[in-house]
Amino acid sequence: PTHLRLGVAGLGTVGVGVVKIIRKQAALLEARTGCKISITAVSARSKTKDRGVNLTDYAWEDDPVKLATRDDVDVYVELMGGSDGPAKASTEAALAAGKDVVTANKALLAHHGQALAEQAEADGRVLRFEAAVAGGIPVVKALTEGLAGNEITRIMGVMNGTCNYILTRMQSAGLPYDTVFEEANQLGYLEADPNLDVGGIDAGHKLALLASIGFGTKVSFDAVELEGIGQISIEDIHQAADMGYKIKLLGVAQMTGRGLEQRMTPCLVPETSPLGQLDGGTNMVVLEGDQVGQVVLRGAGAGEGPTASAVLSDIIDIARGTRISTFGQPAQSLVDAKPAQAVTP
Ligand code: NDP
Ligand code: HSE
Repeated sequence: PTHLRLGVAGLGTVGVGVVKIIRKQAALLEARTGCKISITAVSARSKTKDRGVNLTDYAWEDDPVKLATRDDVDVYVELMGGSDGPAKASTEAALAAGKDVVTANKALLAHHGQALAEQAEADGRVLRFEAAVAGGIPVVKALTEGLAGNEITRIMGVMNGTCNYILTRMQSAGLPYDTVFEEANQLGYLEADPNLDVGGIDAGHKLALLASIGFGTKVSFDAVELEGIGQISIEDIHQAADMGYKIKLLGVAQMTGRGLEQRMTPCLVPETSPLGQLDGGTNMVVLEGDQVGQVVLRGAGAGEGPTASAVLSDIIDIARGTRISTFGQPAQSLVDAKPAQAVTP
């Protein structure tokens, strides 16, 4: 295309970040893609809220489905959140109306990503979600592009910044879980439903998406073994430290003789290892390929700029005419994975 027209639904942390980049970097984006990228229309719940960014150039739609299906929108950018409701309805409507879709919504994709990706392919559209996994870290592109010549052997990582912040702070300040949880709340780190963070669910969503991409299997969030951080006491943290370990909410996905293993659970990691040294709200993803060995990616897993940066990378790909599937291979060809069976003693 020579002109890519966006409809942006959701003007919260990430949506405002996307608007800011498109306003600030218009010339740079055009130089890099050979395509003018602009926003046609936007949507959020409140039309009157001051969002600290000028929205007067854009048409307003109260209804995200109407936004997603406008004739003057080429790419629907879904940044509202939620695994169902308007996010799902508008994404389906956009694909059916012949739009490409970019989303940061890991909850939507963990539950409906398989069906949405198949719909996108059937309709000849592209569904992209770099921002949904580890925010600003380009891990989806690392798997689908940079490491595409490898058989992926293992994916590991710390993929929820809030949990890593809580665990780090418990250790460094010697504070109990409840105190640090409240601190994270005051800092605005927690999701509207905090259990998504501390219950390991948000990180589990991300792991399920990466496992699907890496192992060519259908997205199977229900098969992720999940355990959150709410039961971890300051004594656990101290005992781990005495042995030279830190406790991290660690995700591991690997294909074993017993099937696809996906775990997002608190783990002991050596404090001298890269994962052990990952403090605060940062994310780290470790990818292992049979040819490349281990690749370690570290960076901001959340926040306005980092997450919007990842959304832009998908928009830029579409502007460049890249039609690569979200999953690095057609979603229709992804296979059902046998979930790993527990080993009985
Ligand atoms: P926010 O809660 O900050 O913003 C959500 C936006 O969606 C708000 O502008 C809200 O409107 C709008 N919205 C909600 N429901 C509707 C609706 N029914 N119709 C129209 N608009 C609606 O969320 P974030 O920006 O933090 O997150 C957006 C997405 O990005 C989520 O899927 C999240 O999981 C994902 N993500 C977020 C990251 C982050 O760092 N924040 C990191 C990686 C992914 P209003 O403002 O009027 O209430
Ligand atoms: N709640 C998430 C986190 C936001 O803490 O990592 C980014 O997905």
